[in-house]
Amino acid sequence: MSGIPNHISIIMDGNGRWAQQRNKERIHGHYEGAESVRACIEYAVEIGLPYLSLFAFSEENWGRPQSEVDELMSLMSKSILQELPTFQKYNIRLIVIGNRNHLEPKLLQEIDRAMELTRDNGRLTLIVFLSYSGKWDIEQAAIRFAEAGSPEGKFETFLSTYGIPDPDLLIRTSGEQRLSNYLLWQCAYTEFYFTDTLWPDFRKKEFGTAIEAFATRKRRFGKTSEQIITQQNDSNED
Ligand code: IPE
Ligand code: IPE
Ligand code: MG
Repeated sequence: MSGIPNHISIIMDGNGRWAQQRNKERIHGHYEGAESVRACIEYAVEIGLPYLSLFAFSEENWGRPQSEVDELMSLMSKSILQELPTFQKYNIRLIVIGNRNHLEPKLLQEIDRAMELTRDNGRLTLIVFLSYSGKWDIEQAAIRFAEAGSPEGKFETFLSTYGIPDPDLLIRTSGEQRLSNYLLWQCAYTEFYFTDTLWPDFRKKEFGTAIEAFATRKRRFGKTSEQIITQQNDSNED
């Protein structure tokens, strides 16, 4: 497959509606969504994608009914334990990013263990954003930046995503066309792809279609098309 981005990020939305359409509890949508996560990770490995990131739970999602929050946290814990052998088998590094203050110590322990065990895996870096919000990230970075004496040109190094390249492509499922407080800083030059498909129905075929759409995009990063062509020709000659 040509034109594969370096980093694809996904706002996995529509689990509740998927369940509702089937007269089921919302949690069934989340469980089926976990199957889509598995399929997309598998696909990312197959095509040689270097970075895949997933928005799993926002800071605002803490405001959902407690029963749903509990079920989501238990699904998260289950998924990490269940997928760990797969991460090791396929050489996948897991990184979990977000505000740890609200997370249960047991889940934090499981997360830290999985991150530690997979830290040297280099085929795919899988980033899970859990209890994350873009405004939280910028705020915590600003505090630490000020504490460090505001070193010029270094603000970005205090963001929780430091070291991870910005997403080239951001996919959001379920028809919503908004960021919902996701990667506000990091999406400065990201291409967006929106699909009506609900997350539990988003599998390899839909993922492939999104990547094909990305391949047709013309990115200019504020420059002119002519400059970009010259740049590409120069790098081809190197
Ligand atoms: C995405 O699906 C999963 C999370 C936000 C945790 P939703 O649960 O938001 O599903 P809808 O949007 O209600 O259909
Ligand atoms: C965004 O989905 C968060 C995740 C997918 C984890 P939401 O369902 O929470 O977003 P809104 O409320 O529709 O904006
Ligand atoms: Mg939603």
